[in-house]
Amino acid sequence: MKLNRFPIPFLFLAILGLLAALWAGLMRLGWQLPALTPSLAMLHGPVMISGFLGTLITLERAAAMKQKWMYAPPLLSGLGWLLAAILPNLPLGVILLTLASLGGAAILTEIVRREFAPHTVTMFLGSLAWLTGNLLWMFGWQIYQVVFFWMAFLVLTIAGERLELSRVLRPTQMQQILFGIIVGIFITGVVAALFNLQLGVRLSGLGLLLLPLWSLRNDIAWRNLRHKLPLTRYIAWCLAFGLIWLGISGGLSLGFGAQAAGPRYDAVLHAVFVGFVISMIFGHAPIIFPALLGIPINFQPAFYFHLVLLHVSLLARIIADYTNQSALRMWGGLMNEVAILIFIAMTVYSVRKGMQAG
Ligand code: HEM
Repeated sequence: MKLNRFPIPFLFLAILGLLAALWAGLMRLGWQLPALTPSLAMLHGPVMISGFLGTLITLERAAAMKQKWMYAPPLLSGLGWLLAAILPNLPLGVILLTLASLGGAAILTEIVRREFAPHTVTMFLGSLAWLTGNLLWMFGWQIYQVVFFWMAFLVLTIAGERLELSRVLRPTQMQQILFGIIVGIFITGVVAALFNLQLGVRLSGLGLLLLPLWSLRNDIAWRNLRHKLPLTRYIAWCLAFGLIWLGISGGLSLGFGAQAAGPRYDAVLHAVFVGFVISMIFGHAPIIFPALLGIPINFQPAFYFHLVLLHVSLLARIIADYTNQSALRMWGGLMNEVAILIFIAMTVYSVRKGMQAG
Protein backbone atom coordinates (compact mmCIF):
# COMPACT_ATOMS: atom_id res chain seq x y z
CA MET A 1 0.00 0.00 0.00
CA LYS A 2 1.43 3.42 -0.96
CA LEU A 3 1.76 5.94 1.85
CA ASN A 4 0.49 9.44 1.03
CA ARG A 5 3.33 11.57 2.44
CA PHE A 6 1.86 15.02 1.74
CA PRO A 7 -0.09 15.40 5.05
CA ILE A 8 2.88 14.23 7.17
CA PRO A 9 4.49 17.69 7.86
CA PHE A 10 1.07 19.03 8.94
CA LEU A 11 0.50 15.98 11.13
CA PHE A 12 3.95 16.46 12.59
CA LEU A 13 3.13 20.07 13.62
CA ALA A 14 -0.22 18.96 15.08
CA ILE A 15 1.26 16.08 17.10
CA LEU A 16 4.14 18.28 18.28
CA GLY A 17 1.48 20.77 19.42
CA LEU A 18 -0.33 17.99 21.29
CA LEU A 19 2.89 16.93 23.04
CA ALA A 20 3.76 20.54 23.98
CA ALA A 21 0.23 21.12 25.28
CA LEU A 22 0.34 17.87 27.29
CA TRP A 23 3.61 19.00 28.85
CA ALA A 24 2.02 22.36 29.69
CA GLY A 25 -1.06 20.57 31.10
CA LEU A 26 1.14 18.70 33.58
CA MET A 27 2.72 21.99 34.66
CA ARG A 28 -0.73 23.49 35.16
CA LEU A 29 -1.64 20.49 37.33
CA GLY A 30 1.32 21.18 39.60
CA TRP A 31 3.93 18.69 38.37
CA GLN A 32 7.39 20.28 38.66
CA LEU A 33 8.76 20.25 35.11
CA PRO A 34 11.16 22.47 33.13
CA ALA A 35 9.15 25.28 31.50
CA LEU A 36 10.58 24.74 27.93
CA THR A 37 9.41 28.26 26.99
CA PRO A 38 8.23 30.95 29.44
CA SER A 39 4.72 31.16 27.95
CA LEU A 40 4.02 27.47 27.32
CA ALA A 41 2.11 26.71 30.54
CA MET A 42 -0.33 29.55 29.88
CA LEU A 43 -0.71 28.49 26.25
CA HIS A 44 -1.90 24.97 27.13
CA GLY A 45 -5.52 25.67 26.13
CA PRO A 46 -4.90 27.57 22.85
CA VAL A 47 -2.27 25.05 21.71
CA MET A 48 -4.64 22.12 22.38
CA ILE A 49 -7.59 23.81 20.66
CA SER A 50 -6.01 25.60 17.71
CA GLY A 51 -2.49 24.17 17.43
CA PHE A 52 -3.44 20.51 17.73
CA LEU A 53 -7.16 20.12 16.97
CA GLY A 54 -7.54 23.12 14.65
CA THR A 55 -4.66 21.77 12.54
CA LEU A 56 -6.02 18.22 12.52
CA ILE A 57 -9.60 19.20 11.70
CA THR A 58 -8.73 21.62 8.88
CA LEU A 59 -6.20 19.13 7.49
CA GLU A 60 -8.85 16.43 7.35
CA ARG A 61 -11.19 18.78 5.51
CA ALA A 62 -8.49 19.90 3.06
CA ALA A 63 -7.67 16.26 2.26
CA ALA A 64 -11.36 15.40 1.78
CA MET A 65 -12.07 18.45 -0.43
CA LYS A 66 -8.87 18.04 -2.48
CA GLN A 67 -8.35 21.80 -2.89
CA LYS A 68 -4.84 23.22 -2.51
CA TRP A 69 -5.82 26.51 -0.79
CA MET A 70 -7.49 24.55 1.97
CA TYR A 71 -4.07 23.43 3.21
CA ALA A 72 -3.31 27.05 4.24
CA PRO A 73 -5.36 26.94 7.52
CA PRO A 74 -3.64 23.81 8.91
CA LEU A 75 -0.28 25.33 7.98
CA LEU A 76 -1.16 28.61 9.72
CA SER A 77 -2.35 26.90 12.90
CA GLY A 78 0.59 24.47 12.91
CA LEU A 79 3.09 27.34 12.66
CA GLY A 80 0.98 29.72 14.75
CA TRP A 81 1.15 27.73 17.99
CA LEU A 82 4.89 27.26 17.54
CA LEU A 83 5.50 30.99 17.11
CA ALA A 84 3.18 31.84 20.01
CA ALA A 85 5.22 29.52 22.23
CA ILE A 86 8.67 30.60 21.01
CA LEU A 87 8.05 34.35 20.63
CA PRO A 88 5.61 35.19 23.44
CA ASN A 89 6.33 38.93 23.20
CA LEU A 90 5.20 39.18 19.58
CA PRO A 91 1.53 38.85 18.61
CA LEU A 92 2.48 36.99 15.42
CA GLY A 93 1.59 33.49 16.67
CA VAL A 94 -1.83 34.56 17.92
CA ILE A 95 -2.49 36.35 14.63
CA LEU A 96 -1.61 33.23 12.64
CA LEU A 97 -3.91 31.11 14.82
CA THR A 98 -6.72 33.59 14.24
CA LEU A 99 -6.08 33.58 10.49
CA ALA A 100 -6.16 29.77 10.61
CA SER A 101 -9.64 29.90 12.15
CA LEU A 102 -10.70 32.43 9.50
CA GLY A 103 -9.50 29.91 6.91
CA GLY A 104 -11.41 27.18 8.75
CA ALA A 105 -14.59 29.24 8.43
CA ALA A 106 -13.84 29.79 4.71
CA ILE A 107 -13.54 26.02 4.18
CA LEU A 108 -16.88 25.45 5.89
CA THR A 109 -18.46 28.24 3.83
CA GLU A 110 -17.45 26.33 0.70
CA ILE A 111 -18.77 23.07 2.16
CA VAL A 112 -22.14 24.67 3.00
CA ARG A 113 -22.26 26.22 -0.48
CA ARG A 114 -21.87 22.76 -1.99
CA GLU A 115 -24.27 21.03 0.37
CA PHE A 116 -26.72 23.06 2.45
CA ALA A 117 -27.84 20.61 5.13
CA PRO A 118 -28.30 20.54 8.93
CA HIS A 119 -24.96 18.78 9.48
CA THR A 120 -22.92 21.18 7.30
CA VAL A 121 -24.59 24.22 8.91
CA THR A 122 -23.79 22.80 12.38
CA MET A 123 -20.12 22.41 11.46
CA PHE A 124 -20.13 25.89 9.93
CA LEU A 125 -21.42 27.32 13.23
CA GLY A 126 -18.60 25.43 14.94
CA SER A 127 -16.03 27.09 12.69
CA LEU A 128 -17.53 30.52 13.44
CA ALA A 129 -17.25 29.76 17.16
CA TRP A 130 -13.54 28.97 16.71
CA LEU A 131 -13.03 32.22 14.82
CA THR A 132 -14.97 34.28 17.37
CA GLY A 133 -13.07 32.74 20.30
CA ASN A 134 -9.73 33.44 18.65
CA LEU A 135 -10.66 37.01 17.69
CA LEU A 136 -11.75 37.80 21.25
CA TRP A 137 -8.57 36.21 22.63
CA MET A 138 -6.46 38.19 20.16
CA PHE A 139 -8.13 41.41 21.32
CA GLY A 140 -7.27 40.66 24.93
CA TRP A 141 -10.25 38.83 26.44
CA GLN A 142 -9.35 36.35 29.17
CA ILE A 143 -9.34 32.64 28.29
CA TYR A 144 -12.03 31.77 30.87
CA GLN A 145 -14.30 34.27 29.05
CA VAL A 146 -13.76 32.82 25.57
CA VAL A 147 -13.14 29.14 26.33
CA PHE A 148 -16.81 28.25 25.72
CA PHE A 149 -16.46 29.45 22.12
CA TRP A 150 -13.55 27.04 21.70
CA MET A 151 -15.65 24.34 23.30
CA ALA A 152 -18.47 25.14 20.86
CA PHE A 153 -16.00 24.78 17.97
CA LEU A 154 -15.22 21.20 18.96
CA VAL A 155 -18.70 20.20 20.13
CA LEU A 156 -20.46 21.52 17.01
CA THR A 157 -17.82 20.11 14.65
CA ILE A 158 -18.20 16.65 16.16
CA ALA A 159 -22.01 16.96 16.51
CA GLY A 160 -22.22 17.87 12.81
CA GLU A 161 -20.17 14.83 11.85
CA ARG A 162 -22.32 12.57 14.01
CA LEU A 163 -25.46 14.09 12.50
CA GLU A 164 -24.14 13.29 9.04
CA LEU A 165 -23.47 9.68 10.02
CA SER A 166 -26.85 9.42 11.73
CA ARG A 167 -28.56 9.98 8.42
CA VAL A 168 -28.70 6.19 8.09
CA LEU A 169 -31.20 6.23 10.97
CA ARG A 170 -33.24 8.83 9.05
CA PRO A 171 -34.13 11.17 11.94
CA THR A 172 -37.67 12.48 11.52
CA GLN A 173 -38.25 16.15 10.76
CA MET A 174 -39.34 16.57 14.39
CA GLN A 175 -36.03 15.12 15.59
CA GLN A 176 -34.11 17.44 13.27
CA ILE A 177 -36.01 20.44 14.62
CA LEU A 178 -35.28 19.25 18.15
CA PHE A 179 -31.57 19.03 17.28
CA GLY A 180 -31.72 22.60 15.95
CA ILE A 181 -33.38 23.82 19.16
CA ILE A 182 -30.74 22.12 21.35
CA VAL A 183 -27.88 23.58 19.28
CA GLY A 184 -29.67 26.95 19.48
CA ILE A 185 -29.84 26.75 23.32
CA PHE A 186 -26.14 25.84 23.47
CA ILE A 187 -25.03 28.66 21.16
CA THR A 188 -27.26 31.22 22.88
CA GLY A 189 -25.63 30.21 26.18
CA VAL A 190 -22.11 30.54 24.75
CA VAL A 191 -22.84 34.03 23.37
CA ALA A 192 -24.76 35.13 26.48
CA ALA A 193 -21.75 34.16 28.64
CA LEU A 194 -19.90 37.15 27.18
CA PHE A 195 -22.38 39.47 28.89
CA ASN A 196 -23.52 37.40 31.87
CA LEU A 197 -21.06 34.59 32.58
CA GLN A 198 -23.20 32.71 35.12
CA LEU A 199 -26.41 32.74 33.09
CA GLY A 200 -24.65 31.97 29.81
CA VAL A 201 -22.63 29.05 31.16
CA ARG A 202 -25.72 27.51 32.77
CA LEU A 203 -27.66 27.83 29.52
CA SER A 204 -24.84 26.33 27.44
CA GLY A 205 -24.66 23.56 30.07
CA LEU A 206 -28.33 22.80 29.42
CA GLY A 207 -27.55 22.46 25.71
CA LEU A 208 -24.66 20.09 26.46
CA LEU A 209 -26.90 18.01 28.71
CA LEU A 210 -29.62 17.72 26.07
CA LEU A 211 -27.33 16.76 23.18
CA PRO A 212 -26.49 13.24 24.45
CA LEU A 213 -30.14 12.70 25.38
CA TRP A 214 -31.06 13.53 21.78
CA SER A 215 -28.36 11.15 20.58
CA LEU A 216 -29.87 8.21 22.49
CA ARG A 217 -32.56 7.98 19.88
CA ASN A 218 -30.73 9.36 16.88
CA ASP A 219 -27.06 8.34 17.01
CA ILE A 220 -26.18 4.97 15.55
CA ALA A 221 -23.38 4.64 18.14
CA TRP A 222 -25.73 3.41 20.87
CA ARG A 223 -27.03 0.60 18.63
CA ASN A 224 -23.52 -0.47 17.67
CA LEU A 225 -22.35 -1.21 21.22
CA ARG A 226 -22.98 -4.91 20.54
CA HIS A 227 -22.10 -4.88 16.85
CA LYS A 228 -20.50 -8.09 15.63
CA LEU A 229 -17.59 -6.30 13.89
CA PRO A 230 -14.91 -5.59 16.55
CA LEU A 231 -13.86 -2.21 15.05
CA THR A 232 -17.45 -0.93 14.78
CA ARG A 233 -18.08 -2.05 18.37
CA TYR A 234 -14.91 -0.32 19.62
CA ILE A 235 -15.82 2.94 17.84
CA ALA A 236 -19.32 2.77 19.36
CA TRP A 237 -17.87 2.48 22.89
CA CYS A 238 -15.59 5.49 22.26
CA LEU A 239 -18.59 7.53 21.15
CA ALA A 240 -20.88 6.36 23.95
CA PHE A 241 -18.35 7.21 26.69
CA GLY A 242 -17.76 10.58 25.03
CA LEU A 243 -21.46 11.40 24.91
CA ILE A 244 -21.87 10.47 28.58
CA TRP A 245 -19.06 12.92 29.51
CA LEU A 246 -20.69 15.62 27.42
CA GLY A 247 -23.85 15.22 29.49
CA ILE A 248 -21.86 15.21 32.74
CA SER A 249 -20.10 18.45 31.82
CA GLY A 250 -23.43 20.01 30.87
CA GLY A 251 -24.95 18.91 34.18
CA LEU A 252 -21.99 20.37 36.14
CA SER A 253 -22.25 23.72 34.32
CA LEU A 254 -26.00 23.82 34.77
CA GLY A 255 -25.75 22.97 38.46
CA PHE A 256 -22.68 24.93 39.55
CA GLY A 257 -22.47 27.78 37.00
CA ALA A 258 -19.27 29.37 35.73
CA GLN A 259 -15.79 29.07 37.22
CA ALA A 260 -12.83 31.24 36.18
CA ALA A 261 -10.07 28.92 37.45
CA GLY A 262 -9.34 26.08 39.83
CA PRO A 263 -10.48 22.46 40.18
CA ARG A 264 -14.11 22.94 39.17
CA TYR A 265 -13.05 24.90 36.09
CA ASP A 266 -10.75 21.99 35.32
CA ALA A 267 -13.63 19.50 35.72
CA VAL A 268 -16.16 21.26 33.51
CA LEU A 269 -13.63 21.86 30.73
CA HIS A 270 -11.98 18.47 30.69
CA ALA A 271 -15.16 16.41 30.94
CA VAL A 272 -15.67 17.82 27.42
CA PHE A 273 -12.09 18.21 26.18
CA VAL A 274 -10.77 14.88 27.44
CA GLY A 275 -13.93 12.83 28.05
CA PHE A 276 -15.76 13.80 24.88
CA VAL A 277 -13.19 15.16 22.41
CA ILE A 278 -10.27 12.78 23.06
CA SER A 279 -12.60 9.79 23.22
CA MET A 280 -14.06 10.82 19.84
CA ILE A 281 -10.52 11.05 18.47
CA PHE A 282 -9.80 7.53 19.75
CA GLY A 283 -12.91 6.38 17.91
CA HIS A 284 -12.38 8.33 14.71
CA ALA A 285 -8.65 7.65 14.29
CA PRO A 286 -9.22 4.25 12.65
CA ILE A 287 -11.27 6.12 10.00
CA ILE A 288 -9.38 9.43 9.70
CA PHE A 289 -5.82 8.13 9.40
CA PRO A 290 -6.54 5.66 6.59
CA ALA A 291 -8.36 8.46 4.72
CA LEU A 292 -5.44 10.88 5.22
CA LEU A 293 -2.52 8.55 4.67
CA GLY A 294 -4.04 5.93 2.38
CA ILE A 295 -3.05 3.14 4.80
CA PRO A 296 -5.55 0.90 6.62
CA ILE A 297 -5.42 0.61 10.41
CA ASN A 298 -5.67 -2.92 11.76
CA PHE A 299 -7.96 -3.09 14.78
CA GLN A 300 -6.27 -4.49 17.89
CA PRO A 301 -8.22 -5.56 20.99
CA ALA A 302 -5.49 -3.68 22.93
CA PHE A 303 -7.20 -0.42 21.77
CA TYR A 304 -9.56 -0.95 24.71
CA PHE A 305 -6.68 -0.50 27.12
CA HIS A 306 -6.12 3.22 26.39
CA LEU A 307 -9.86 3.79 26.12
CA VAL A 308 -10.56 2.39 29.58
CA LEU A 309 -7.49 4.07 31.08
CA LEU A 310 -8.62 7.45 29.70
CA HIS A 311 -12.09 7.25 31.20
CA VAL A 312 -11.15 5.72 34.54
CA SER A 313 -8.40 8.30 35.09
CA LEU A 314 -10.71 11.13 34.06
CA LEU A 315 -13.30 9.94 36.56
CA ALA A 316 -10.61 9.98 39.26
CA ARG A 317 -9.53 13.48 38.19
CA ILE A 318 -13.04 14.89 38.28
CA ILE A 319 -13.92 13.29 41.60
CA ALA A 320 -10.66 14.80 42.91
CA ASP A 321 -11.66 18.19 41.49
CA TYR A 322 -14.87 18.17 43.52
CA THR A 323 -13.36 16.74 46.69
CA ASN A 324 -10.21 18.88 46.66
CA GLN A 325 -7.75 15.99 46.56
CA SER A 326 -4.88 17.57 44.71
CA ALA A 327 -2.64 14.46 44.56
CA LEU A 328 -5.41 12.37 43.01
CA ARG A 329 -6.12 15.20 40.56
CA MET A 330 -2.45 15.33 39.54
CA TRP A 331 -2.28 11.55 39.05
CA GLY A 332 -5.61 11.44 37.23
CA GLY A 333 -4.38 14.12 34.80
CA LEU A 334 -1.07 12.33 34.34
CA MET A 335 -2.87 9.05 33.54
CA ASN A 336 -5.10 10.92 31.02
CA GLU A 337 -1.88 11.80 29.25
CA VAL A 338 -0.47 8.27 29.49
CA ALA A 339 -3.67 7.01 27.81
CA ILE A 340 -3.22 9.54 24.98
CA LEU A 341 0.44 8.57 24.50
CA ILE A 342 -0.42 4.86 24.40
CA PHE A 343 -3.09 5.68 21.82
CA ILE A 344 -0.51 7.46 19.63
CA ALA A 345 1.93 4.54 19.95
CA MET A 346 -0.81 2.02 19.09
CA THR A 347 -1.91 4.08 16.09
CA VAL A 348 1.65 4.33 14.71
CA TYR A 349 2.08 0.57 15.27
CA SER A 350 -1.20 -0.21 13.48
CA VAL A 351 -0.33 2.07 10.53
CA ARG A 352 3.03 0.29 10.17
CA LYS A 353 1.31 -3.09 10.28
CA GLY A 354 -1.15 -1.85 7.67
CA MET A 355 1.76 -0.80 5.42
CA GLN A 356 3.47 -4.17 5.80
CA ALA A 357 0.22 -6.00 5.05
CA GLY A 358 -0.10 -3.96 1.85
C1 HEM B 1 -4.95 15.20 28.74
C2 HEM B 1 -4.49 15.84 29.73
C3 HEM B 1 -4.77 17.27 30.10
C4 HEM B 1 -4.31 17.83 31.24
C5 HEM B 1 -3.46 17.16 32.31
C6 HEM B 1 -4.81 19.19 31.27
C7 HEM B 1 -4.59 20.09 32.32
C8 HEM B 1 -5.16 21.32 32.44
C9 HEM B 1 -5.11 22.16 33.61
C10 HEM B 1 -4.47 21.77 34.94
C11 HEM B 1 -5.76 23.31 33.33
C12 HEM B 1 -5.95 24.50 34.27
C13 HEM B 1 -7.24 24.33 35.04
C14 HEM B 1 -7.27 25.28 36.21
O1 HEM B 1 -7.35 26.50 36.01
O2 HEM B 1 -7.16 24.77 37.34
C15 HEM B 1 -6.23 23.22 31.97
C16 HEM B 1 -6.93 24.20 31.32
C17 HEM B 1 -7.37 24.07 30.03
N1 HEM B 1 -7.29 22.96 29.23
FE1 HEM B 1 -6.42 21.21 29.68
N2 HEM B 1 -5.52 19.45 30.15
C18 HEM B 1 -5.54 18.30 29.38
C19 HEM B 1 -6.17 18.12 28.18
C20 HEM B 1 -6.80 19.12 27.47
C21 HEM B 1 -7.37 18.97 26.17
C22 HEM B 1 -7.40 17.67 25.36
C23 HEM B 1 -7.85 20.20 25.82
C24 HEM B 1 -8.55 20.62 24.56
C25 HEM B 1 -9.02 19.84 23.65
C26 HEM B 1 -7.60 21.10 26.91
C27 HEM B 1 -7.95 22.44 26.93
C28 HEM B 1 -7.82 23.26 28.02
C29 HEM B 1 -8.27 24.64 28.04
C30 HEM B 1 -8.90 25.40 26.86
C31 HEM B 1 -7.99 25.14 29.30
C32 HEM B 1 -8.24 26.55 29.81
C33 HEM B 1 -6.92 27.25 29.74
C34 HEM B 1 -6.81 28.51 30.54
O3 HEM B 1 -7.74 28.95 31.25
O4 HEM B 1 -5.69 29.07 30.48
N3 HEM B 1 -6.96 20.41 27.89
N4 HEM B 1 -5.86 21.99 31.46
